[in-house]
Amino acid sequence: MCGIHAVISKTGFQVPSEDLKHLLCNRGPDHIGDHRSRTEVHDGISYWITLMSTVLALRGGQVTPQPFVDASSGSALCWNGEAWKIGQDPVEGNDGQAVFTLLIQATSSKKLPSETTIAILEVLRSISGPFAFVFLDKRHGQLYFGRDRLGRRSLVSKYDFDLGTFELCSISGEKGFWLEVEADGVYQLSYDSSTWQNESQHPPEDRVKTIAVTYKHPWATADSDNSGLPLGLFNTTVPTEHFVLDRQTDSVGYLRHLLSESLKLRVQNVPLPPNHDINLHVRVAVLFSGGLDCTVLARMAHDLLPVDQQIDLINVAFENPRVVQAAKKATKPRKGSSKDSKVDVELAEATLSEKLVSDASPFEICPDRCTGRKAFQELQVVCPARSWRFVAVDVPYSETIAHKSKVISLISPHNTEMDLSIAYALYFAARGVGTATSSLNATPVPYATPARVLLSGLGADELFGGYTRHATAFNRRGFTGLLEELKLDVDRLGKRNLGRDDRVISHWGREARFPYLDENLVKWAVECPIWQKCDFHQDTSAKKQDPDIEPGKKVLRLLAYDLGLHSVAVEKKRAIQFGARTAKMELGSTKGTTLIS
Ligand SMILES: *[C@@H]1O[C@H](CO)[C@@H](O)[C@H](O)[C@H]1NC(C)=O
Repeated sequence: MCGIHAVISKTGFQVPSEDLKHLLCNRGPDHIGDHRSRTEVHDGISYWITLMSTVLALRGGQVTPQPFVDASSGSALCWNGEAWKIGQDPVEGNDGQAVFTLLIQATSSKKLPSETTIAILEVLRSISGPFAFVFLDKRHGQLYFGRDRLGRRSLVSKYDFDLGTFELCSISGEKGFWLEVEADGVYQLSYDSSTWQNESQHPPEDRVKTIAVTYKHPWATADSDNSGLPLGLFNTTVPTEHFVLDRQTDSVGYLRHLLSESLKLRVQNVPLPPNHDINLHVRVAVLFSGGLDCTVLARMAHDLLPVDQQIDLINVAFENPRVVQAAKKATKPRKGSSKDSKVDVELAEATLSEKLVSDASPFEICPDRCTGRKAFQELQVVCPARSWRFVAVDVPYSETIAHKSKVISLISPHNTEMDLSIAYALYFAARGVGTATSSLNATPVPYATPARVLLSGLGADELFGGYTRHATAFNRRGFTGLLEELKLDVDRLGKRNLGRDDRVISHWGREARFPYLDENLVKWAVECPIWQKCDFHQDTSAKKQDPDIEPGKKVLRLLAYDLGLHSVAVEKKRAIQFGARTAKMELGSTKGTTLIS
């Protein structure tokens, strides 16, 4: 992924601190560039704008330098993202360049400023894919910035009253009060309002406190037309007659098709990493817990990649001193006792299994390690021609602690124990250092993945009803309860913590890609009637034709079954922090919402 930094100041050009620059270079190790621009707005009052980009080159044949600058107008773009499609057309070559060309076209004609804004928004709304950006429209004295509607890339901002600066960055610096830029629309900072004189129609929406008037243009517009790629209207239809969700149901085939299209964009044409080991032919890795969502991705990526390309499966496991300590106590855990939190029950269960295999390594008995190995085995059986590599990332407690302050600074402005425990898992997984076992060679060897693209199964639970609370909602309040819960999840997709995850993962010069969050797939899933996604209403007494498949995310489970992943299809769901055992690592009791101490 790339790094973005932009400062607009009334007092001179500002540059990021050396520390911040270093962090930006971790995200984009292939190139660093900057661009400066000064505008005198009136009577000696000037705005000084500094743009900086670092590049992780994953698109087009070579490294494409940034920021993009248009020599004739002085307009410039910092681009951190992947425009997979513009409108319905896949983008060939470098996507940042393609977006920039369209933005320059939008600003160059002799339009009124408000028409220019509309044209710029049209370009941005037509992009499918994750991005964060800063675009300087020098001609009209406007600075645009924002994140894609699902918030898949990070962008944080800081306003400094004393310095008279407004700063945007992919990661938070150490000093000051940084806020996440909301993924709800395009922001327009209007530093030269003189271009708006004679305009009857000022841009609408609320003002954000900053050094110049800032407007917000929401992604979702009331009159969303098809050109704007809306994410669909949630289908709240309740079934009126009995319906069976099985392998013949249309939704299974649709999901397969859409997921395959999504994966094509995300796994094909990935360039080989620079200075790669010629014996390693790997470009894509999967963040691999061995669960349903990520294993389906691995299985389908197999169908799309040349068979001589290896695929790395990165599986992370932690030494959790609470589990170890609990294991030493001889007491058998009591489930469901009144003050047991979910975490305690998970840990208690873990304790029990630990006691059964007292000599095993703390890593090998992590729940995700067990399911990971099992799913690895199943992939080898189902796709024997592929060279799969299982990368076991073992994180001793001492190492977790050694990286703690780094991880805390990366997730900022997020700051809860829950954020930290999830971030640990992603941070060490994305580092990709561990021991590897391949289908050809069963003896583990030390290994660091060269893959710069990491596939993540995130999103499937929200789209298809995979969380326990979805089952709970159905049991308590039937379809109405379930639909409300799922609709909330879909609405929250953009507010999820993908910015936080991006800051942690990109630190290692890699980027996560989310095939389930493809715009076309999300739109289809949102509009698909509930009974074709999950199956909480199934009549359990009825004779089943399909194997014993759980009702949550059933459409995806059926797809997994069709793809030959029979044991993965019936695997139970587990959240990352429990599976990798990063939840509640510190002794003493804390809740997930507790601020990091
Ligand atoms: C919801 O699903 C039903 C049944 O397939 C379909 O007839 C209806 O058009 C869908 N509604 C929306 C808003 O997509």
